[in-house]
Amino acid sequence: MNMDEKLHFADLSDRLLDWYAASARELPWRIGPTDRAKGVKPDPYRVWLAEIMLQQTTVPHATRYYLAFTQRWPRIEDLAAAKDEDVMAAWAGLGYYARARNLLKCAREVAVLGAWPDSVEGLRKLPGIGPYTAGAVAALAFGRQAAAVDGNVDRVFARLMALKGEWKLEKERLKAEVEDLVPADRPAEFAEALMDLGATVCTPKSPNCLLCPLRSMCAAQAEGQPQRYPIKPKKTPKPTRLGHVYVLFGEGGSVMTERRPDKGLLGGMLGLPTSDWADALPASQFPSQANWEAVGEVRHVFTHFALTLTVWRADADQSYSDPQQTADALPSVFAKALKLALPTR
Ligand code: ADE
Repeated sequence: MNMDEKLHFADLSDRLLDWYAASARELPWRIGPTDRAKGVKPDPYRVWLAEIMLQQTTVPHATRYYLAFTQRWPRIEDLAAAKDEDVMAAWAGLGYYARARNLLKCAREVAVLGAWPDSVEGLRKLPGIGPYTAGAVAALAFGRQAAAVDGNVDRVFARLMALKGEWKLEKERLKAEVEDLVPADRPAEFAEALMDLGATVCTPKSPNCLLCPLRSMCAAQAEGQPQRYPIKPKKTPKPTRLGHVYVLFGEGGSVMTERRPDKGLLGGMLGLPTSDWADALPASQFPSQANWEAVGEVRHVFTHFALTLTVWRADADQSYSDPQQTADALPSVFAKALKLALPTR
């Protein structure tokens, strides 16, 4: 950062913190600015759990899961002692199931250690904790002078600095900038204020610049089209894969399910039987002899590809898993298939 830029952002953190004191969102995992000022200390377990859930998930969607997890497993020792399949079932619908497996691994490691590491470097060594989560937990839970730079913060600073260069390099530049600006005495509120600014004011499509405490120092606002930033390379479209999924209903509305292998997509989750998935629709591989009937298609977008499954249903005279428990424990793609296959009465 050159001297001009330093001067330019001189009172950024003061302005941001003043704005945050007046505008902070109330969130179930958050110690708000008033309580923080009174010395209320956050529980690192809850801070960490929320951060893991909030990666690539919205606040409204994550909230229900956060409340359910903390009610059922109020302390890290409780989560560490939970059965794998109970945690995977409780995670169903949040997506990114490798994260749930790492969540459990991490809880078990910390329970064995007996305490959380309280530095960025220490946190980074735990399963499932990358640079973002380490920065966030270090700042929010331990008051370390660390930055939590996610897509929201990228957007805020891409605009403040009107970054026009190659996005990969610009991202590194802005991360260094944010780290430089974290105030030593209030790193947690600085991180939370940036999260709130990105979520409520500096929004992706139509930023509310009139409400922004940083408006006068924002280069993109001065140019007149802040929503242009960040300028990212075009994404290549995701390939679509095709397959079949089988919903076999037994007695009492029960449903045939299978546990998916630990490795791979949806690893360790409860699932419905499927054919292989491929670029062209494979031949159907029915899991049993029955009166199979195609009832439609479901589509679900994963990180690297979209999946379209032809949904088949049939009836059998055996008894399988409990219908409600099954519906709750299935990842979204299978929950959609089950819903489509249910009799419409
Ligand atoms: N996004 C990521 N972490 C968050 C948090 N702790 N609160 C609100 N939004 C977030």
